[in-house]
Amino acid sequence: MNSKDSHDRWWHGAVLYQLYVRSWLDTDGDGYGDLGGVIAGLDYLSWLGVDGIWLSPTMPSPDEDWGYDVSDYLGVHPDFGTLDDMDRLIAEARRRGMRVLLDLVPNHTSSAHPWFVDAAGSRGSAHRDFYVWAGPGPDGGPPNNWLDATGSPAWSWHEPTKQYYLHNFLPSQPDLNWWEPGVHEAFTKILRFWFDRGVAGFRIDVAHGLYKDAKLRDNPAETTGNPLAGRFGQQPAYSANRPETHDVYRDWRRIADSYPAERLLLGETWVADLARLASFYGNDDQLQLAFNFPFVFADFAVPDLPDVVAGTLTRLPAGACPVWMASNHDVGRFPTRWCDGDERKIRLALLVLATLPGTMVLYYGDEIGMTDVDVPLGLQQDKMSRGGCSSRGDGNGWQGSRDRARTPMQWDGSAAAGFTRAAAPWLPIGDSTTVNVADQRDDPSSVLSLCRDLLSLRRAEFGGQLVSYQPLPAPPGGWAYRSGSLTVLANFSGRPITCQDPGKPVLLCTTGAAPAAGNAAGDIVLAPWQGIVARTAGARQRQDAASTRERGWNT
Ligand code: GLC
Repeated sequence: MNSKDSHDRWWHGAVLYQLYVRSWLDTDGDGYGDLGGVIAGLDYLSWLGVDGIWLSPTMPSPDEDWGYDVSDYLGVHPDFGTLDDMDRLIAEARRRGMRVLLDLVPNHTSSAHPWFVDAAGSRGSAHRDFYVWAGPGPDGGPPNNWLDATGSPAWSWHEPTKQYYLHNFLPSQPDLNWWEPGVHEAFTKILRFWFDRGVAGFRIDVAHGLYKDAKLRDNPAETTGNPLAGRFGQQPAYSANRPETHDVYRDWRRIADSYPAERLLLGETWVADLARLASFYGNDDQLQLAFNFPFVFADFAVPDLPDVVAGTLTRLPAGACPVWMASNHDVGRFPTRWCDGDERKIRLALLVLATLPGTMVLYYGDEIGMTDVDVPLGLQQDKMSRGGCSSRGDGNGWQGSRDRARTPMQWDGSAAAGFTRAAAPWLPIGDSTTVNVADQRDDPSSVLSLCRDLLSLRRAEFGGQLVSYQPLPAPPGGWAYRSGSLTVLANFSGRPITCQDPGKPVLLCTTGAAPAAGNAAGDIVLAPWQGIVARTAGARQRQDAASTRERGWNT
């Protein structure tokens, strides 16, 4: 048995919860959520059945991109607390059997990071090569055609040293130069610093982007219109997606594996192609998890979703663990994107997410069916998507302001939704009188109760293992599959559909009323947008230790 085999792959069959710290719970009354709030919310997350939390960026930052512009990789943002608070959070989470993942931003830093400040000092400065600098192109303008995330040239002229520097996002987020060994050394130290403190892993920002083409060749045109294939008519074939990036993950994986409790690397792999997505898992020697954006952007329909699921599972290397999520701080909330706020669809989406094999990631508020909030222009905080359009006026690929999915958690029905005692929270609050934790917690028929039941079933059936997935025949509008010992039937249509009775017992149903019997023997009728989970006929309830084991862990 090699050391990897002896590791506990706790994320198999687990539930991660993305927590946008700034909007979770404000305990110091400044209108921003903080680490004290995360600690105060741990009992709730434990009650819900979460195995690990991924915190949106927590490191010091000037907040040009709300923490995705890091100015110190070894600290805690003063808005959120201190390193001691982070240590306390890790310990408190562990006491409840939960892991803490941080957000790591290795593609770029803030322009206020000491590395960039030094790099900008002179062409000969110690950190000059930590960033990507180049002279003008043949026409005297930027070195090539690359565009940043707002659709403007990805190069800014730096007058004092008379060169351009690269920024794939905002000009205040200069891209790091991964051809420079010093960058590798710096990140090795950063990884170890946090792993040594008991951080269980990282969500890696822009994971497909680290290396840039050494020759800085022009990006080719993008014509499919798929937001994952490119933006602003350009395919980031040379400004990102370079093969050398995989070497970084091989190195990091060796570091992750060197800890007694294997650390988790979860990539924000923003790629259109499932084969490319699969490549980030390598030969079980790169990332253990890679976010599946083709799934996120699939229509909430059949055969679209089942096709992506089947395509993913066919392409992932044997033993690789798929990840299913549908909302985040960039793409918006699935109760809006997929479901138009229709509660039947929200319930069905939760059922599907919770019964697919692999790792499930919830975004804060998914569990109560929180929808996007229309944030008026004057209150918008996100510079990159402000106004919902780019400097080129052709849409920013974010489909509106990203603030819509970053508004405060709706804890109760009071004016500030239990989020803050400040007069004004940093972003406006959605309709907390109709959707909030307090009301739903006490209501066994609520979305929250359904979600909790789903997570509990998931842990019992899938916890600690990768179960098999098998699609089953289904009538038009239906999706049926077997996942481990469970059979799932889902009606993705506004009409009743007749399916074969999966057998007893029906363990969960998205709506209160169980499906009616059909006309023919052995048939059942699913109501519009209804889903059920049953134990597969003949399958036994899982009895092994992993489903019930103590969730404590050692670092
Ligand atoms: C990732 C983050 C996004 C951020 C960008 C630049 O896509 O999820 O929020 O703006 O990277 O760091």
